[in-house]
Amino acid sequence: HPHLSTDPLCGLMLEGVALNAIADALGTPCWVIGANTLRQRLKRMQTAMTDAGLDVRIHYAVKANDHLSVLSIIGQEGYGADIVSGGELARTQKAGIPAQRVVFSGVGKSDAELEHAIGLGIGQINVESAEELEIISAIATRLGKQARITLRVNPDVDAETHAKITTGLADNKFGIPFANAAALYARAFTLPGLRPVGFATHIGSQILSTAPYHAAYARIADLVRSVRASGLAVEVVDCGGGLGISYRNEVEGQPEALAGAMRAELGDLGLRLSIEPGRWPIGPAGVLLSSVILRKEEGLPSPFLVLDAAMNDLVRPSMYEAWHGILPLAPQDFSQPVAPIHVVGPVCESGDTFARDRLLPPLGRASRIAILDTGAYGTVMSSNYNSRPLASEVLVENGQWTVIRHRQTLEEMWQDETLPAPPTGKA
Ligand code: LLP
Repeated sequence: HPHLSTDPLCGLMLEGVALNAIADALGTPCWVIGANTLRQRLKRMQTAMTDAGLDVRIHYAVKANDHLSVLSIIGQEGYGADIVSGGELARTQKAGIPAQRVVFSGVGKSDAELEHAIGLGIGQINVESAEELEIISAIATRLGKQARITLRVNPDVDAETHAKITTGLADNKFGIPFANAAALYARAFTLPGLRPVGFATHIGSQILSTAPYHAAYARIADLVRSVRASGLAVEVVDCGGGLGISYRNEVEGQPEALAGAMRAELGDLGLRLSIEPGRWPIGPAGVLLSSVILRKEEGLPSPFLVLDAAMNDLVRPSMYEAWHGILPLAPQDFSQPVAPIHVVGPVCESGDTFARDRLLPPLGRASRIAILDTGAYGTVMSSNYNSRPLASEVLVENGQWTVIRHRQTLEEMWQDETLPAPPTGKA
């Protein structure tokens, strides 16, 4: 983590800002994102593609972290966005990302979402089924527009990742079965309101090996060659997202290796390529700050450290058995001997566990910790479970920190709820 450092006086720092100072000012739990880390990681991806001699557009996957500040950085740097809902589309527009740079993926786009997207002149819609192709044609025709579409193809490749986040196997709900893709692509050219431009694929998330990418892109390349041989034009291939990061001691996915797979399989087809990374650019840029409420050890085989953050804030450990690094914030905690302890939240479920038998110094009431690599799929998956308000968020940029979302108040938590009108008469 080149953006994390320890200072003998200030403790743990992110991009040169003391995390304790942020927690002092705002309380915990609190999310922190490092803008420069995000910028540098996106730059590294773009450079890897350019150095491989590829013309690649980066469409940041908004679902990973959809904060308007994050999206405005994406827009300023000239990248596009990959969205999966009308809500995400609206966020990209609010953040100033031109609609032409936005790609719409997803297995069930509603008519209202499609109308909104096509009306805005969205850059590309990745079509995920035969029925959706007909629906998009009808909507675009009704609006007097041409929708630029690709077919998202399911290459039936095992991404060797967690079952809940693999998407490229034949019985996953995503994409068009490989065997049907060529015929459906031909059909797209016969329908009004459509401009078919190529294919898209996405095989899963937190992918650490390049083999699945090679396998998927090789299949897409075969498809491109065969539909071209039948006389149809193919201009673009959207290569999806999924590059994994190092949560524990894995070697993180290398953008250069991804570029290598794209070049080896698709490089000589004269295509314009794009990728949709979410986790890789922003995951390592974020931490979740939390304080210890208390320690529980009497009569227990193994002690518990109970935090003020919980599964409603960061659900990844409960949902995917995900491992996240945990570091103390205070400088004096770095030199202490470590011992195993279970790290849990206060929510009323045993699944509300961040770590088991984690080696940590002797932390206690009011000690603070950072949960690492929470920039992707952190805030966006938070909920109000147990009526716990959404935590505050901070952006660190050039040595300064700014609050980008205040801690939700209790009133804000229930402001959308209404009580039924009182009965007006006797039934
Ligand atoms: N493109 C499509 C069509 C996707 O479905 C996804 C992620 C991405 C791009 C971005 O993938 P990434 O580069 O972030 O791996 N909540 C889970 C991850 C779910 C990923 C869903 N799709 C987690 O916390 O691990």
